[in-house]
Amino acid sequence: MRNVDIVKVFKDPKLVGQEISVEGWVKFNRDSGRIVFIAMNDGTTINNLQIVCKPDNLKNFDKVASFRLASAIKAKGLLKPGREPGSVELEAKEVKLLKLADEDYPLQNKEHSNEFLREIAHLKSRATSTQAIMRVRTELAYAIHHFFHTKGFMYMASPLITSNDCEGAGENFIIQDDPTNPFFGGVKAGLTVSGQLNAEAYALGMKKVYTFGPTFRAERSHTNRHLAEFWMVEPEVNFMNFRQLTVLIEQMFKHIVAYVLKRCENEIKFLNKKYNNNTFETLSQLIQQKFVRLDYSKAVDILKEAVAAGHKFEDSNIFWGKDFGAEHERYLCEKYFKAPVFLCNFPKEIKAFYMKQNSDGKTVAAGDLLVPGVGEIVGGSQREDNYEKIVKRCQEMNIDTKGLQWYLDLRKYGYFRSAGYGLGFERMLMYITGVDNIRDTIPFARFNGELKF
Ligand code: 4AD
Ligand code: MG
Repeated sequence: MRNVDIVKVFKDPKLVGQEISVEGWVKFNRDSGRIVFIAMNDGTTINNLQIVCKPDNLKNFDKVASFRLASAIKAKGLLKPGREPGSVELEAKEVKLLKLADEDYPLQNKEHSNEFLREIAHLKSRATSTQAIMRVRTELAYAIHHFFHTKGFMYMASPLITSNDCEGAGENFIIQDDPTNPFFGGVKAGLTVSGQLNAEAYALGMKKVYTFGPTFRAERSHTNRHLAEFWMVEPEVNFMNFRQLTVLIEQMFKHIVAYVLKRCENEIKFLNKKYNNNTFETLSQLIQQKFVRLDYSKAVDILKEAVAAGHKFEDSNIFWGKDFGAEHERYLCEKYFKAPVFLCNFPKEIKAFYMKQNSDGKTVAAGDLLVPGVGEIVGGSQREDNYEKIVKRCQEMNIDTKGLQWYLDLRKYGYFRSAGYGLGFERMLMYITGVDNIRDTIPFARFNGELKF
C-alpha cells in the first residue's frame, strides 16, 4: 500500500479507487454519531483530506472521536470521490493514533488572527494561513534563483559578518567581542546591512552576480514593513547603466510574479479571502503593464499639487530634498499612477555614498521601485565609477574610509561601470500575498522590542 503526501492525493487522479495510507495531524474532528469525520492535514498542502470513519470498517471506531486536534494519526483506506465535484475523501479501514496531543493545544478549527499567531510562532506552522504564506515564500525563492540562473548570473554568498556599513545609516548590529582577546584583531565586527559591496567585488570579475541572503538592520521602526532581520536579493552587473538596470528590475519582477501565480494560485486565493483583497487578479494584470518611470523632481511637484488640492498627508511639508515617507510613496503609486513606479534621480544628500553622481551635480542615478500596498520594494543605482569622486563623497559624508579602502580600490582595476539593486524579499511576499504585516511573511520575525522563539 502506498504511503502518500496529501498534496498528491489531490493532484493525482490515478490514486482515486486505490488503497493508500496517509500520515498527518487532526485539524478537525466531527462526530455525527454514526460516522466520524476527521479532517487531516500533513502540511504538504493547505487543503485537508477528509477521513471518513464508519463503525463497520474500523475496529477502534469508538475511539476515533477522541483523537484531539493536533494529534498525529495514520490512516489507511480507499480513496474515493467526495461529495463536492472533483473532491476526494478517504474511506478509512484503519485509523491509528500515533501521538495524542494535549488538551490545551491553543489552535482551534478556525482562522486565527495574525496577532494571535505571532504570540505562538512556534505553533503557527499549523495554521492554514501560515502554511499558505510559507508555500508562496518557497516558490518565490525558487523563482528568484530560476530567473538569475537562466540569465547566467553567479550566485554569490556575501559575508554576514562585516566591519562596514554599506548604507551608511549606522544600523549595523554590533557583535560583542572580548576586549582582552579580540576575535577579529580589534576590528569592530557587525552583521551586514547589505551584501552589495562584496557583490560588487565579484561582479568586477564575473560580470553578473547576485546575492540572496539574510541582512540585518538595527532600525527602531515599528512599522508593518520593517524587520530587524530580513532577506535581500542583490544582483550586481558590470557594464550596466541605470536605464538598463530598471529594465532588469522590471523583467525580474514580472518573471517572479508570473512564476508564483502559476504555482500558488490556491494559496494566494486563500490568503486573498482572509485579507479581503484581490492580489491574484491585480498581479495577473500587473505583469501586462509597463512600469512608470518618474523623476524625483517631478514627484515633488505631484506631491505639492496634491497638498495644494487638499490631500492630507501626516507630513505635508513637501520640498525638493525631502526623503519621502511611506505615505508619499504610496500616494504616488496607489493614488496617482495606480501602477508600480520607478522613482528616479534622487538628491544625492538623501542617498548612499556609492551612487553614481549625475552631471547636474545634485542628483544620483538611483531608483526605488514603489508598488501599491507596500511602497518601496526595490532600491538600486548605478555605482560611482570615479575613484576621486567616490572618495570625496565619503569625506563629505564623514564616512571613515579606512575599512572601505578595498572597496574604493575596485575603481582602479578596470572598473568601467556597474549597477545593482536590492529587492526586499519579505516586502515582495507582502506584495504578492496581500498580507498586511511583514512580520507574518517570515517564520520567526525579528523586530525592535522583542526576541522570542
Ligand atoms: O534600499 P535599501 O536599503 O538598499 C540597499 O541595501 C542596497 N545596498 C541595495 C543594492 O543596491 N544592492 O534596501 C533594499 C530593499 C528595500 O527596497 C526594501 O524592500 C528592503 O530592502 N528593506 C527592508 N525590508 C524589511 N525590513 C527592513 N528593515 C528593510 N530595509 C530595507
Ligand atoms: Mg532604500
